[in-house]
Amino acid sequence: MSEAPYPLDGTSGAQVVPVSDALGGEIRGIDLSRDMGDATFVAIHRAWLRHLVLLFRDQDLSTAGQVAFSRRFGDLDLAPVDEYGRKHREGFPEILVVSNVVEDGEPIGSLGALESKWHTDMSYDERPPRASCLLSVKIPATGGNTGFLNMYEAYETLPPALAGRIRGLTLKHDATYNSVGLLREGAAPVTDVTASPGTSHPIVRTHPETGRKALFLGRRNAAYINGLSVEDSEALLDEIWAHTTHDRFTWHHQWRVGDLLIWDNRCTMHRRDGFDTRSQRIMHRTQIMDDRPPSSGEMP
Ligand code: OGA
Ligand code: MN
Repeated sequence: MSEAPYPLDGTSGAQVVPVSDALGGEIRGIDLSRDMGDATFVAIHRAWLRHLVLLFRDQDLSTAGQVAFSRRFGDLDLAPVDEYGRKHREGFPEILVVSNVVEDGEPIGSLGALESKWHTDMSYDERPPRASCLLSVKIPATGGNTGFLNMYEAYETLPPALAGRIRGLTLKHDATYNSVGLLREGAAPVTDVTASPGTSHPIVRTHPETGRKALFLGRRNAAYINGLSVEDSEALLDEIWAHTTHDRFTWHHQWRVGDLLIWDNRCTMHRRDGFDTRSQRIMHRTQIMDDRPPSSGEMP
């Protein structure tokens, strides 16, 4: 049973409807295509910190509207270079198209129809994005659901002995493969996880806005816990992941056209199911920059 719906402060009639026990809140009664006053945005932001992922349904939002709403959460990154080495779309440098559609022999977007395993966006960067936002433009009849995982809860429920073993450790987040496991532009396959390119971050981070601690795992593939033998690192990572990827920390969203989701990339992971390559899925994505590295919330 999810928590009961409650009014969104600063608005007349808008509501927050928690969507699962684990995380996620649907905001009802807000039209994102209309100008939003600061009081409304402050309430939305507060709900976002509380529920980690917000869902807005039935939105009729232009690309400019998605960019404008995303920008309220912070400065936007330019769309990351995709697996074809392409930079960004004409006219909208902040939008990454996530799609399997091919037009005139050319894929219009990233990630194809492949499954993506649990991950945090671009955690191999020094300052991974604070948030990502997806707006659904076209969706298949089945498949392509996006799941989210509450990394605060994963941390808070660690068996004490396991929590003790990871205290103070840092994890190298591999930069070789993208979220569907394809090699990034110019990268070589990983043969030695201790030597592959990536960035190290504390395995437990403190969220700079909520002060809560969360596990920060990035993704499983080619991850490496610094200072351990590869064997010990693999074994410890397997233990942490077995605990973390438990259903009770997750919520899976089944998309409709016009859904907008924005997730906090500092305290969640996400994944998506693959789907039939004969169907078409088109998502527009923005990414909000973080000015602080994951280590910045660490208390002395
Ligand atoms: C992403 C991502 C999942 C999806 O955009 O970062 O992982 O459902 N997308 O397409
Ligand atoms: Mn992602």
